[in-house]
Amino acid sequence: HTVTVAALFSGEVRVGSPVTVKGWVRTRRTSKAGISFVALHDGSCFEPIQLVVPETLENYATEVTGLGAGCAIIASGELVESEGQGQTVEVRADRIEVVGWVDDPESYPIAKKRHTFEYLRTQAHLRPRTNAFGAITRLRNTLANAIHNYFHDRGFYWVNTPIITASDCEGAGELFRVSALDMHNLPRDDKGQLDYSQDFFGAESFLTVSGQLNLEAYCLAMSKVYTFGPTFRAENSHTSRHLAEFWMVEPEIAFADLEDNAALAEDFLKHCFRTVLEQRQDDMAFFAQRVDKQAITRLEQVIDAEFVHLDYGEAIRILDNCGQKFEFPVTWGADLASEHERYLSEQHVKGPVVVKNYPKDIKAFYMRLNDDGNTVAAMDVLMPGIGEIIGGSQREERLEVLDGRMTAPGLADELWWYRDLRRYGTVPHAGFGLGFERLLNYISGMENIRDAIPYPRTPGNAAF
Ligand code: 4AD
Ligand code: MG
Repeated sequence: HTVTVAALFSGEVRVGSPVTVKGWVRTRRTSKAGISFVALHDGSCFEPIQLVVPETLENYATEVTGLGAGCAIIASGELVESEGQGQTVEVRADRIEVVGWVDDPESYPIAKKRHTFEYLRTQAHLRPRTNAFGAITRLRNTLANAIHNYFHDRGFYWVNTPIITASDCEGAGELFRVSALDMHNLPRDDKGQLDYSQDFFGAESFLTVSGQLNLEAYCLAMSKVYTFGPTFRAENSHTSRHLAEFWMVEPEIAFADLEDNAALAEDFLKHCFRTVLEQRQDDMAFFAQRVDKQAITRLEQVIDAEFVHLDYGEAIRILDNCGQKFEFPVTWGADLASEHERYLSEQHVKGPVVVKNYPKDIKAFYMRLNDDGNTVAAMDVLMPGIGEIIGGSQREERLEVLDGRMTAPGLADELWWYRDLRRYGTVPHAGFGLGFERLLNYISGMENIRDAIPYPRTPGNAAF
């Protein structure tokens, strides 16, 4: 009869059935009538199940009354309609087995009172037991499934691009180096310090910043592909939008241009929003109540509206004429800063906006050069509260134009295989990268990207 808490609420289990649930105590209180009410969670849904525990249980005085937040128990009893307010069903317990006590309840780091997200980051091993992090964990999972299902249903192949690579896809130079270390015989320099300069068995290698270049090769064979996995950036950013290790979803489509790419991004995002509204009503209700009032309505509005498209040039004119003082200058040729991105999506469009055709000098070598010779077929999707959530482009499929853009020393030699793709059956193709944690922040309304990933990696922070 062992079931999850979610099954108790879903109607899967009939009222009157004997049930056993296993989980952790969130709260326990004693009522006057010699009954304990225990709220038990097991991660399966937002709402804990209420256990009504009568004092007639043999271990009532010795154990049940000693239960508090964090204790692990197995409870058996009957599922009954709840007499109290706030829940539909509860379990009238006839047996409580304590599996794991909380040694010293006073020291339990997440006992009782509400904690700030900042504090909970210092308790990354316990924060999944809280309401907010249970909710974000389920949301993350539902979204990951929604992403795989979306592509699977449309004939895309999931390609596992490498984590260790020699190339700096984005050319931004923010790489983590990979060293092959013999832990039993660690290389030391003259001063006895660890020498990390060892290469990956004679080759320079790094953690990937994007799977795109490898993915393009598979796109030009399988037509529709995507990669979804961890990516790494050694940028020294201390913002609420940057992680050193984050997950990225990157689709790539053949025989496609920038407009096809933007249409895919829009349809894909809407699918993600629809799925969480359908499948995570409990958690979305929590986010709307406790984190961001607009959490649900915002998604509903985005699903119903068409994304606004702006050319980079138009975006610059809008920013230049809006009368707002910006920290960073607005001039044609400069990259959009976060404040500009947010103005465009929050003040100007008041919704998602696709900015297209950026100056070539601020974008990566692989983006397709437009006929004007000054801009490339790039697109960023900007979201209110987040700024850039997606970055993508049509790729340069013409070898001679690509060669003209691969000006970084050694790049053309290193990427000989990437050039090959332009020599053997090249076709127009396009793709984009979605920051998975930025998507989670947008949907939940959680403000800090460190709260959208179980164990955030930021400069100087690799604890846990
Ligand atoms: O704009 P980016 O750098 O694009 C690429 O890497 C392309 N190769 C993708 C492609 O076309 N296949 O990154 C894509 C997205 C950004 O829009 C942002 O959402 C997210 O990845 N991102 C980060 N998220 C968290 N922390 C960081 N440091 C991030 N850097 C980028
Ligand atoms: Mg970008």
